[in-house]
Amino acid sequence: MEQCLRVNNITKKFGGMLALKDVSFQTETGEILGLIGPNGAGKTTLFNIISGVLRQTEGEILFHGKSVSHMAPHKICKLGIARTFQIVKPFYSMTLRDNVAVGVMAVGHSKNKALEKADEVLSFLGLDQKSDKFPGELTLAEKKRLELSRALATDPKLLILDEVMAGLNTREMLDFTEIIKTIRQRDITIIMVEHVMQAILTLCHRVVVLNFGEILAIGTPEEVINDPKVIEAYLGDGYNAQN
Ligand SMILES: Nc1ncnc2c1ncn2[C@@H]1O[C@H](COP(=O)(O)OP(=O)(O)OP(=O)(O)O)[C@@H](O)[C@H]1O
Ligand SMILES: [Mg+2]
Repeated sequence: MEQCLRVNNITKKFGGMLALKDVSFQTETGEILGLIGPNGAGKTTLFNIISGVLRQTEGEILFHGKSVSHMAPHKICKLGIARTFQIVKPFYSMTLRDNVAVGVMAVGHSKNKALEKADEVLSFLGLDQKSDKFPGELTLAEKKRLELSRALATDPKLLILDEVMAGLNTREMLDFTEIIKTIRQRDITIIMVEHVMQAILTLCHRVVVLNFGEILAIGTPEEVINDPKVIEAYLGDGYNAQN
């Protein structure tokens, strides 16, 4: 399989604090890769580095063989990497349609093209009835869909999802699981951070486990949930996948 993203020996220091230490893994094109680990493990920090929001202290990120390590976020997005934010941050003074369109314009498309794309993606995510509303009028689940719309509208090859299911109820989570499956069928590679293990088990081909900024395990979902190291550091005793 073709390699999509390669994370090479990434280290990130915040002052004296080592948030990531020599992290390396890769994703294959078309796979859904899970990234899990306890709070503060460095998951969001890694996403911030991949998307160019933060600079690594050491190491390199390669996207289809090309280094993106020193590129600005909009350039990385233009190359085909889009991400959602753990804390959703839409523009509250703009309609949903405009919220999605500005992201498309930021990667170089015309306003007309951006609005067309916004309508298409909002419809795909079931928000077409709300496209003239403002983000403040949305439920949390709808805000998460808006966040995903903004990322998808840039036509990514790699989509990075930071806890899109956090705070959702079971029904909303199942809906989101189906959405992610459909996105993957469009040949978009996905890396997802999620604490909802059921979603990780259902969706992911492989899982990377981070703990205190270091890789603790990499394997199939089955392998990592049965790994004593992962149970001890993250899942807890008595964990089983049916919970
Ligand atoms: N901009 C920053 N400046 C200083 N320290 C930071 C910064 N961003 C993150 N950190 C620290 O780096 C560590 C990793 O944080 P990060 O947000 O990446 O964890 P996480 O795995 O995403 O956790 P969670 O599951 O709670 O979202 C934490 O100790 C955090 O306090
Ligand atoms: Mg995080």
